[in-house]
Amino acid sequence: MTETAVADTPDQTEEGVRRRDFIYIAATGAAGVGAASVLVPLVSQMAPSADVLAESSTEIDISAIQPGQAIKAVFRKQPVFVRNLTPKEVAEAKAVDPASLRDPQSLEDRTKKGKENWLITMGVCTHLGCVPLGAGEGEVKGEFGGYFCPCHGSVYDTAARIRKGPAPKNLEVPPYEFASDTVVKIG
Ligand code: FES
Repeated sequence: MTETAVADTPDQTEEGVRRRDFIYIAATGAAGVGAASVLVPLVSQMAPSADVLAESSTEIDISAIQPGQAIKAVFRKQPVFVRNLTPKEVAEAKAVDPASLRDPQSLEDRTKKGKENWLITMGVCTHLGCVPLGAGEGEVKGEFGGYFCPCHGSVYDTAARIRKGPAPKNLEVPPYEFASDTVVKIG
C-alpha cells in the first residue's frame, strides 16, 4: 500500500516521463546509426572498382540486324543501340556539315572505317539520361530520322548526333571493335 502511494507522487511520474523521453531518443539514435551502416555497403556495392569496369565487355552477334533495323543491348548495365543504317540514312548523315552541329562530329568520326553503316551508341540521352526511342521496331525516330528522347524532346539524327532539344552532346559512342564481320565486342 505504501509502495503504491509513492508511485503516484508527482516526482515519480516526472521521472517516468523522463525515462520514456530517453528511450525514445535512444531508439531514434540507434535507428539513425542503423540506416547509415546499411547505406555505406549499398553505395560501395553500386560502385564497381576500376578493374571490374575495365574488364567488362559485351559481345553482340549482329548477323541478324538488317539495314534499317537496330537492337538494344546492355553494356555496363546501360542500354546500347546497335543500328544497321540504310544507304539513305548513311547519305543523310554524310550530307550534314559537322561544323553546323552543336556537337560537331562526322559519321566517319562515329563509326569504323569501311563499316559506316554500323552505328553503335549508348542508349542514354545526354540531357538527363533517359532512354531515347528509335531503336525498337515501330518506335518514333524523330524528325531527323535517328532517335527521339520523349523526356524533354531531344532529337538525334541518323548518326545519333544531337540536332534539336536540350541535350548538349551526341549519343556517346562506346569503345568497341569488330571481332569478326558478324560479332561486335563493346568495351
Ligand atoms: S533526358 Fe532526354 S531530353 Fe531530357
